[in-house]
Amino acid sequence: MNQLCPLLATVLIATGCTQSSADSSLPSLADLYTESFKIGVALNPGEIAGDEPTAAELIAGQFNAYTAENDMKWERIEPTEGNFDFNVADAFVALGEKNDAFMVGHTLLWHSQTPDWVFEDENGDPASREIVLARLKHHIEAVVGRYQGRIHSWDVVNEAFNEDGTWRDSPWLRTIGPDYIARAFEFAHAADPEAALYYNDYNLFKADKRDAVVALVQSLQTEGRRIDGVGIQGHYGIGYPPMEELEASITAFGNLGVKVMITELDISVLPFPSTAQQGADISLDLELQAELNPYIDGVPADVSAALADAYRGLFELFLKHADVLDRVTLWNLTDASTWRNNWPMRGRTDHPVLFDRQNQPKDAYWALVNLKIYHDREN
Ligand code: XIL
Repeated sequence: MNQLCPLLATVLIATGCTQSSADSSLPSLADLYTESFKIGVALNPGEIAGDEPTAAELIAGQFNAYTAENDMKWERIEPTEGNFDFNVADAFVALGEKNDAFMVGHTLLWHSQTPDWVFEDENGDPASREIVLARLKHHIEAVVGRYQGRIHSWDVVNEAFNEDGTWRDSPWLRTIGPDYIARAFEFAHAADPEAALYYNDYNLFKADKRDAVVALVQSLQTEGRRIDGVGIQGHYGIGYPPMEELEASITAFGNLGVKVMITELDISVLPFPSTAQQGADISLDLELQAELNPYIDGVPADVSAALADAYRGLFELFLKHADVLDRVTLWNLTDASTWRNNWPMRGRTDHPVLFDRQNQPKDAYWALVNLKIYHDREN
């Protein structure tokens, strides 16, 4: 039996601690946290299709907000100009409607996972501002327009800033110029005036990046543009990031009058090869080293407990700021589907989320269940 289960059994009906299957007898994280914030999950095509019944039960029972892990990114949805592939995105939206989930569109504008043609003219040279702007407008109108009223919120722009708060030298900046973010928000708002619109990035606990995003939100607000929230991605490790800095960012964004979401939470248990590169730069592809891959056959109890502690610490902070925090989304359902198995190096065995490779709840899951139960008893 899970070591935290007896705690739970004292306050919940004993069925919560079964080890036999990841079934509906588990307490629902989404229900437990419903008064505080949404609990979301990123889904891959197999999960969207419902390939594994136990995974499908977790998705329906544990989470009330869904993000498509890859299938609404530009390269998937408009791989060549004007040719849209909405197959998986349609299935994603249908699943959300079936399960009555809050739907997040990820993402309309990013420098990664965007095809080169978007930025090139017919000779392969950089396209003009007018052409790239027209492509952006057409893409956003097509995608946001198709799901108007069904995708409730959009990560409009993803990862526009460097670690020092300067603007990322992306093809968007180079071709359109510094108003590209405002234009993206303008086009998204026109395509669905009801949809909530977010700016999303990693390492937003860092003061320079925090300040850059504060300035961006203020400038959009000054222009009278709709911006509803800042998404803090949250690809973390044990002991990372510093909690006071993360808290300072949640407070700084909340003080702007926008909501805050933790949009891509995972906590790697593996050593990060170079702390300077911690974050979520998906172009990072370090060489596989066996000594950095210590838990191929599973995690020892102390590591499992450390992961549970790390999740508990973060959620304590999130509960403290539930007034501004709208959602916490786990980036992947299980340790089998986590992208951290292949980032920052390919071929490792990581264990960063709440359900294991057999779709079973981990100590970290029970830590979050128990945290909320005790939190509610004390408040
Ligand atoms: C990741 C996916 O999880 C991977 O499957 C894919 O190969 C690369 O992108 N920041 C983001 C997410 O905004 O879209 C990224 O997702 C992780 C980092």
